Amino acid sequence: MLWAGIYVIRMGSSMCKHVQGGLNSALGRHIPTNLRHYSTNRKPLILSFPPIIMGILSLSGIKKHFGGFWVLDGIDMDIEAGKMHQLIGSNGSGKTTLINVVSGLIKPDEGKVVFDGVDITQKGPYETFKTGLVRTWQIPQAFKNLTTMENFLVSSENNSGESYLYAPLKPKWKGDEEKIMDKAIEVMKMVNLLEKRDILSQNLSGGQQKLLELGRALMSDAKMILMDEPIAGVNPTLAHEIFEMIRDICVKQKITFLIVEHRLDISLQYVEHVLMTANGKILVEGDPQEVIKHPNVVESYLGE
Ligand SMILES: Nc1ncnc2c1ncn2[C@@H]1O[C@H](COP(=O)(O)OP(=O)(O)OP(=O)(O)O)[C@@H](O)[C@H]1O
Ligand SMILES: [Mg+2]
Repeated sequence: MLWAGIYVIRMGSSMCKHVQGGLNSALGRHIPTNLRHYSTNRKPLILSFPPIIMGILSLSGIKKHFGGFWVLDGIDMDIEAGKMHQLIGSNGSGKTTLINVVSGLIKPDEGKVVFDGVDITQKGPYETFKTGLVRTWQIPQAFKNLTTMENFLVSSENNSGESYLYAPLKPKWKGDEEKIMDKAIEVMKMVNLLEKRDILSQNLSGGQQKLLELGRALMSDAKMILMDEPIAGVNPTLAHEIFEMIRDICVKQKITFLIVEHRLDISLQYVEHVLMTANGKILVEGDPQEVIKHPNVVESYLGE
């Protein structure tokens, strides 16, 4: 009964949550108590209990197909501000596609993306970036022939010298440039790259390039950062450091993170909320330690 009460009420399900719960109880399966679990083929009608917090990022009914294959088939998501959220799911389950949709790189076929109260569904990548929703990439996308410092400087939006009108007027932009330099140094310290400030980004290690991506996102005054596999291919020590940095930034700067990451042994020690994709939908979400015990996660993700 306790866990049944927290389920989302849905219409039209061939096996509604409560019945499903009864079955699971009858079968003696352990069902974590603070999860939202969704059957794979239904749309929620009423989100009733517990009260749903209007998140900084809300997705409703997001669909995207490639050829005849629906990679995203009705994604609903409400991301609470100021927390670290993680998106998990097996290879090819559509995590990067979802980040591409949210960040404006590709348009969904159906559905709506609302960020910080603004409908951004039809906005392109740059317009989305300007709302304060910034992404990093599964394969880092730094400017290879620029130094670390230069990569940081070009990520800032606040330089009036970039305008054709003001470019010849040095007094107009000198102050901006000094402020951006100061900020770049502050962010480089934050992500441990100050010593690498004059190194071409192509000569940074894989882990340092991930840090560069994070630093560039921070240079942009992001309200929320979407990160696609920030510790893939990074050694465990640096991987922990990266997640510690992210947690620090999340807490101190109140930036919301949605992180796609496969290395659960590391990431789950840091994140506060986990969502799992399967069959183009969010299958289960909730507290990390409970999500990981969910039978569908064990079966679909861990393969046991
Ligand atoms: N632009 C595209 N055109 C055609 N198919 C695509 C395109 N982008 C992604 N796909 C397909 O969509 C599916 C989901 O891909 P996606 O990269 O989103 O998965 P993922 O969950 O990020 O996987 P991984 O964990 O391996 O990074 C895959 O089958 C992929 O081949
Ligand atoms: Mg991916």
